[in-house]
Amino acid sequence: MARSLVLLWCSRVVLRHTGGQTVYTCRPSTLFRKRITTMPGQMKISSFFSSPLTTKSDNKVETKASSEEPVKKKAKVSEVTDEETLPSKQPSSPSTPSSSPSTLTTPSSLSEEEKGNLEKNKLKAKLKLLGTKTCGQIVNVGPTWFRALEAEFGKEYLVELSKFVAGERKKSAVYPPTEQVFTWTTACSIQSVKVVIIGQDPYHGPGQAHGLCFSVLPGIKPPPSLENMFKELTATVDGFKHPGHGNLTGWAAQGVLLLNACLTVRGGAANSHAGKGWEKLTDAVIHWLNSHSSGTVFLLWGAYAQKKGQFINKKKHHVLTSVHPSPLSAHRGFFGCNHFSRCNELLKADGKTPIDWTNLPSQV
Ligand SMILES: *[C@@H]1O[C@H](CO)[C@@H](O)[C@H](O)[C@H]1NC(C)=O
Repeated sequence: MARSLVLLWCSRVVLRHTGGQTVYTCRPSTLFRKRITTMPGQMKISSFFSSPLTTKSDNKVETKASSEEPVKKKAKVSEVTDEETLPSKQPSSPSTPSSSPSTLTTPSSLSEEEKGNLEKNKLKAKLKLLGTKTCGQIVNVGPTWFRALEAEFGKEYLVELSKFVAGERKKSAVYPPTEQVFTWTTACSIQSVKVVIIGQDPYHGPGQAHGLCFSVLPGIKPPPSLENMFKELTATVDGFKHPGHGNLTGWAAQGVLLLNACLTVRGGAANSHAGKGWEKLTDAVIHWLNSHSSGTVFLLWGAYAQKKGQFINKKKHHVLTSVHPSPLSAHRGFFGCNHFSRCNELLKADGKTPIDWTNLPSQV
């Protein structure tokens, strides 16, 4: 099959015998050579011909594309392209190329906008696949977070974890709702995180948890720990007034990562989803920030958060610790810890914009 195709569309074919093997050397007509070199995604075809057909820029294009694509996928694309294009190269009507002008555009001539759209679509497809692979449990992940943690999101334990969470959702109420589990990845890019507050477990009451630790949406009474944070803020941050709601999205949008170690919980059953795998994923997030950011302020309240953040490089980052703001412990050192204003002093000393803790619009 391959032989006949080669013979068909080579204007000159030289047969040689070397060591018992027949070697075909093809010299296509000038017209064909031109078409071959300008068609996108068909570099495999050049292997039929002598090397001058593969130009430097063509090589560059292919390398660039393949670095983004899994090897398997790339191979598949080339196969398809070769199959599609070989028959169309039949020299029966060489003077009327059947390809439309648009197919003659090389990938290198894509505009920035087109390249951006291509990347966006690729990412969309990957996120869709992640959703499918995880029984619809891992959805609405912010793009910068997904890219940074793509290897982690590809791990097998998340499939198992998702099966568990999906089963739980069938049996009982699970918080937060599926589409809000990754709210912490959508308020700002992973690269713009300046402050990290680590929580343990989502609120387990109806309507409370929405994917940012300590935060509740308008209409839900701020829980006691959050009320204590507001008390500390009122006492230590100029201009801070109780916002009248507990929606902390305004902080998240400024680069405050509000991350629970465990991302879901069964209604009314604290820590019911602990140890099922979420902690591995959230550890990966902290590891990423630990190595890829600098001068990040970590606010670790209570023994659990401090243990989770024990590996943070204190020479590179700022780690502030205190007891948990819960009513059970707040009076033993959370009140008066001054973390919110100290955090801003540290950010300013590093030349970063401080957090406007008062910026808590309930809605925009
Ligand atoms: C929560 O706050 C953010 C910004 O601060 C706002 O955009 C969003 O609409 C609020 N959510 C609700 C449900 O009000």
